[in-house]
Amino acid sequence: MTMMNQERVLSGMRPTGALHLGHYHGAIKNWVNLQNDHECYFFVADWHALTTHYESRDVMEKYAYEMVIDWLACGLDPEQCTLFFQSRIPEHAELFTLLAMGTPLPWLERVPTYKDQQEKLRDKDLATYGFLGYPLLQAADILIYKPKYVPVGEDQASHVELTREVARRFNHLYGRESNFDALVAESLTKLGKDSSKRLEKSKKVFQETGDAKALEGAIGFIASSELLSYPERERLAGWFKGMGRTVLPEPQVLLTKSSKLPGLDGQKMSKSYGNAIAIREDEKTIIEKVKRMPTDPARVKLTDKGDPAKCPVWQFHQVYSDESTQEWASKGCKNAEFGCLTCKQPVIDAILREQQPMLERAAPYVARPAVVREIIEAGTERARVTARTTMQDVRTAMGLSY
Ligand code: TRP
Ligand code: SF4
Repeated sequence: MTMMNQERVLSGMRPTGALHLGHYHGAIKNWVNLQNDHECYFFVADWHALTTHYESRDVMEKYAYEMVIDWLACGLDPEQCTLFFQSRIPEHAELFTLLAMGTPLPWLERVPTYKDQQEKLRDKDLATYGFLGYPLLQAADILIYKPKYVPVGEDQASHVELTREVARRFNHLYGRESNFDALVAESLTKLGKDSSKRLEKSKKVFQETGDAKALEGAIGFIASSELLSYPERERLAGWFKGMGRTVLPEPQVLLTKSSKLPGLDGQKMSKSYGNAIAIREDEKTIIEKVKRMPTDPARVKLTDKGDPAKCPVWQFHQVYSDESTQEWASKGCKNAEFGCLTCKQPVIDAILREQQPMLERAAPYVARPAVVREIIEAGTERARVTARTTMQDVRTAMGLSY
């Protein structure tokens, strides 16, 4: 199980279709690496899927568990990370509602994905309240677990930025309880006379001179104090800086570069473009799909020379082939030494080789769906504990704990 002192990571994914190799190379591979040395929370963002697919209830039913099996196939280890469904933790909705009260409308209207997606998904009516609120719901998903990092693609960076603004505003509005000073005094008493004298002194130095060393020392001391609870430490740190308490810490985006693996036609890989290879695609289909991939149109006959730069298969080589194979492909293409089918064979082999352990990992879960349910059940219960703790704190900060 994860260690308590590891940095926390949180991310989510919308269950709107079977996962494909673009997801693997663009995101999940990174998640799998993170689970080794971070406390990871990964969730199925089924409410988020509803913001665009509210008319098709079967989508989530079909893909929510399938997506978890795909995650497990890719190597996410339920012993190492907490996997859960967003919709099972209504605290996300509670935080969303509370954050909505103080979030200025223009903050949401100017999120770039809002207009972009409305343009792109013209066949859907996205002039909805839910769709506008999408990034704020995402902010609630994130802030409720107080993660240090949020690994997402570039398209989501603006949502994490909004999350940070929302957290800052929340802390500004609610970080100072009406009895803030009394609570600080209480914490100082708990620390003892000597320590609190030292803190008061270095606070004065810091506030007068901005001495970074004084700040660092004090924050370090407060953070490691076992005499104080977490909210008490946060409050005291806020007091030291001359601000309020950090109720909701600001997360950092952990930018995953967009997938190096394009779709079969060289565009972004996406199920809706019909250019994807699913993670658990069967062997025959994979072979057929790669064989049918378009290549440099200049290569009509075997003797026609080609240019790898104009060929999506070459981009696959760059992800899947070692240097010598790449050299072989590039030279063979430019000098017309062999046909495109020959060039494609090492790519086919490499995709199947990559897929083999994924199929092996997925098999027991496909055979016993109850096990997947248990994994989600356990993950949801773990996530719920964290979510509830944050909400108690949030309610208190907002004056709702009567
Ligand atoms: N909006 C994300 C996407 O479409 C999914 C998501 C929802 C998410 N909530 C999140 C990602 C919280 C990271 C953190 O990919
Ligand atoms: Fe593409 Fe290879 Fe054919 Fe060249 S030989 S066009 S790189 S498939």
